[in-house]
Amino acid sequence: MSGGTTETKTDSSGAAAETPTTTEELQSIQLIRERRSIREFTGEKIPDEHIEMILEAARHAPSPENMLMIRFIVIRDDQETKEFLADIAQEMAQTAFGGAPFELTSGRNWFITDPYRAAVYARLRDGELFRYPEKSDTVIVVCASESWHDAGYLYPLDLFGSVVAGMAVTNMWLVATELGYGCGYEALVCSDPRHAELIRDRLGIPPMWKPLTAFCIGKPSKARQLGPSRPPLEGLMYQERWGLPYKRLAFRKKEE
Ligand SMILES: Cc1cc2nc3c(=O)[nH]c(=O)nc-3n(C[C@H](O)[C@H](O)[C@H](O)COP(=O)(O)O)c2cc1C
Repeated sequence: MSGGTTETKTDSSGAAAETPTTTEELQSIQLIRERRSIREFTGEKIPDEHIEMILEAARHAPSPENMLMIRFIVIRDDQETKEFLADIAQEMAQTAFGGAPFELTSGRNWFITDPYRAAVYARLRDGELFRYPEKSDTVIVVCASESWHDAGYLYPLDLFGSVVAGMAVTNMWLVATELGYGCGYEALVCSDPRHAELIRDRLGIPPMWKPLTAFCIGKPSKARQLGPSRPPLEGLMYQERWGLPYKRLAFRKKEE
């Protein structure tokens, strides 16, 4: 592993550029950290040009053999469909979060500190928090297919379509963040196959394509702080093989 030496690289114009040596110097990490889930929108309109810039980012997602087994239904004018999605999301939230007592499930929300956790949980149970498709400027129903393909070979690994969709959504989310808009990944609408069927029916989605989320974009009602916190590197990474704890550079240096 390289040890933080300053090197130079050339950019696309051939000019020399300093290679970042700390996370803070990376341009990309700025947007990655600023990106948040936004669930309250003002309802204001977003210029068409901005929405198209966001859609453009989806097109650049990587995919196996560049097949892009993803499709997007961009809903901007159909307020009734936005409300239909909000109703489904609220109903599903009540099922998902109302089914078990706070005492048993509150640990899942470890990243929300007390005393706020109980209040946030109450909002989850009520489901009102998830009605945000109705106030979004744009709701994109993201669809993926695990069986549609344009190659003479069916990929053995399931979920390729969903992986590609995730990458496309991340691209859109980062561009929207840079433009100052908020996004919410409303998977609740498709979590129950009965709801997914209703959505298919309403939007004419063929059986081979699976709606994954109503990805909502809008002007945020208020700014959100960074976070929620993530586990440290040691919580997610292993070193060389499963189970061997990864050690951060900072800790390694201390031991030297
Ligand atoms: C696959 C996936 C499903 C999600 N489902 C929902 C959802 O149904 N409703 C919602 O409001 N947020 C949903 N989220 C957003 C997460 O709750 C959110 O990303 C997480 O709590 C971290 O917060 P942050 O996005 O602000 O960093 C989902 C995110 C992903 C990637």
